[in-house]
Amino acid sequence: MMRERLRVLVLFGGRSSEHPISCITASSMLTSMDPTRYEVIPVGITTTGQWTGFEADPGTWNLPGGQLPHVPEPSDPLSLHVTAEGTHELVSAASGESRGFIDVVFPLLHGPFGEDGTLQGQLEMAAVPYVGAGVLASAVGMDKHFMKIAFQAAGLRVGPWETITDRQWATQREAVLDRVAGLGFPLFVKPARAGSSFGISRVGDRTELTTAIEEARRFDPKVVVEAGIVGREIECAVLDGHGSQSPRASLPGEIVVHDGSSGHEFYDFEAKYQDGGAADLSCPAELPDEAIERVQELAVRAFDAVDAEGLSRVDFFYTPEGDFILNEINTMPGFTPISMYPAMWERSGLAYGELVDELLSLALERGTGLH
Ligand SMILES: Nc1ncnc2c1ncn2[C@@H]1O[C@H](COP(=O)(O)OP(=O)(O)O)[C@@H](O)[C@H]1O
Ligand SMILES: [Mg+2]
Repeated sequence: MMRERLRVLVLFGGRSSEHPISCITASSMLTSMDPTRYEVIPVGITTTGQWTGFEADPGTWNLPGGQLPHVPEPSDPLSLHVTAEGTHELVSAASGESRGFIDVVFPLLHGPFGEDGTLQGQLEMAAVPYVGAGVLASAVGMDKHFMKIAFQAAGLRVGPWETITDRQWATQREAVLDRVAGLGFPLFVKPARAGSSFGISRVGDRTELTTAIEEARRFDPKVVVEAGIVGREIECAVLDGHGSQSPRASLPGEIVVHDGSSGHEFYDFEAKYQDGGAADLSCPAELPDEAIERVQELAVRAFDAVDAEGLSRVDFFYTPEGDFILNEINTMPGFTPISMYPAMWERSGLAYGELVDELLSLALERGTGLH
């Protein structure tokens, strides 16, 4: 008897500013999933949060160049329905008519309302298995303030930082500016919960601070300000273990931003996605064997520190003194074939397709609920 194909709901787009990046990630995922094993059901989430079945060929979405893709508002939005038997079905939100059943969800979403635990909460409520981190790890991994607290509590090194809440900015601006300037310059001012470098500025002196904070606040009323760290940008991909096996770390990769020639002071949005020559991703990073082992161990500890599951990309600064300082964990990293996460696994002996298989089998193995 032929084994039934696994029905995989691939969710992409979403309400965050990383909507187009998610579409591009989905485009490559959809074109590379084995059709003999998976029945892929692509569903786009619009910027207003509507779910829509997807007919257009997402293989046509690409970077760099062209326009950033987005999911159009649907005429017949979908919703996720749990049947009396506990199976999961997509239905037309208007008519309730069935649009097919699903076994597992691959939430290829970045940023708030996708990578931050909110969607994971919705999937937990529906008791449908999904790839990646659960509610808590997703939320902590999204929030640069709580992420650092969790890392510190686990004995992991992060750089000096200050957080500015909405209330503090409204009521004690001068005190906030003094506190933040106390970190020294240059500073990096960031929305606490964004991604793809949106809203991030490098600030050279106090006169530029207010503008940078206001810019970050366009994305999030909570702002994180960090002391600038001098170091190479080294990343490591982590993939969960099966059963009680510990998570696995890939060979590390390195991001090299060509500042002088391209005008990018750091790994900003354009350098990431729009200016092909601005940055090189190299894997494996040229590091002494001892440093490779150390960063792999730190990456797994960071993964465990936030209680991550499934996958994460852990990003470090490697200082001239040879120390690794944690920058961040991404619980749903970019996943195009040229993205760091799959590239690092590829170099570590796990091809793109096998990686997708692993993630789906980990999701099914875990299920939902407390574990
Ligand atoms: N404290 C810092 N010191 C030096 N460079 C930084 C610092 N924070 C961020 N950067 C630069 O900005 C980029 C984006 O910052 P990051 O915190 O990774 O934001 P995002 O979550 O949007 O990816 C980093 O890849 C790095 O190039
Ligand atoms: Mg980053």
